[in-house]
Amino acid sequence: APGTPAIGLIEERATATVPRRAAGSTKFSSGHVLVCGGATGLTGAPSMAAEAAMRAGAGYVTACIPASLNLVFEIRLLEVMSLPLPDEGGALTPEGADTVLDEAHRRGGALIVGPGFGRAEPSAALARDLVARAPVPLVLDADGLNAHAGRLETLAAREAATVITPHAGELGRLLEIDSHALDERRLHHVHEAARRSGAVVVLKGDDTLVAAPDGRVAVSRGGAGALATAGTGDVLSGVVAAMLAKELEPFHAAAAAVELHRRAGIEAAHAVGAAEGVIASDVIAALPAAMAQR
Ligand code: APR
Ligand code: MG
Repeated sequence: APGTPAIGLIEERATATVPRRAAGSTKFSSGHVLVCGGATGLTGAPSMAAEAAMRAGAGYVTACIPASLNLVFEIRLLEVMSLPLPDEGGALTPEGADTVLDEAHRRGGALIVGPGFGRAEPSAALARDLVARAPVPLVLDADGLNAHAGRLETLAAREAATVITPHAGELGRLLEIDSHALDERRLHHVHEAARRSGAVVVLKGDDTLVAAPDGRVAVSRGGAGALATAGTGDVLSGVVAAMLAKELEPFHAAAAAVELHRRAGIEAAHAVGAAEGVIASDVIAALPAAMAQR
């Protein structure tokens, strides 16, 4: 039909351009990822995004998390640096923005905003400020997206690359439409969201779609029902950020991440014995096997 975007399949070779770790690599040349998120009751999400970024090949990961919860991250994340930010009752506040942005300026790489942010208004204000000012490629997920409900166009003002990773509910809030209406026309809405936001949009689900502002759209090969478990979205955000930190073009970074995540879901089901038994941590552990298939 006229106006219907042509859609491609995310082939297995989507990961062929992911750089291999060369002999002369350093932890920084492998890619730096900053993760900003976490709140009381939601410490797992940024932890999993951070670990997934490392398993997807980022050489250095910094977690920008609520100071009052710092010990949780110090104990849970051995390889990840933590950068404690001001919080109120475990929820991040806007005062932390400069600390995150200074680190992004200093080390470069890619920034994830959203995993485990929660819905407190001061945290949402921090998310909006980071998105507006971050000088590096950005992955916006979860409550970082909800902080932009009805404000999709504000993303278009960013200079550095932006990849957003909503499920249908989150994209529905961004577009101010019902998630059921969105699901009936997923291809149309993901295409529109990319055009209006200037961002690469990863519309998650069993048939994940990736759309670029220039009209390119691709769909995942599917077959990874093992991913239907809480926390796998946080894992995906970490993988996308690792790909951006390796300086892949944003649409290719998103497509490669979706394919690595799909393969890791399948690998995890083999490793634990059944798709039903897979938890998001298993998907993180399976990322190197998914990376090896390239
Ligand atoms: N087949 C393939 N992939 C799937 C399937 C499926 N049947 N079901 C889910 N997935 C993938 C999605 O494509 C996505 O990559 O699993 C991931 C789930 O991501 P999210 O929907 O963001 O879920 P997650 O964030 O991990 O869940 C944690 O966040 O929004 C809340 O209510 C949500 O409590 C949940 C929490
Ligand atoms: Mg999610």
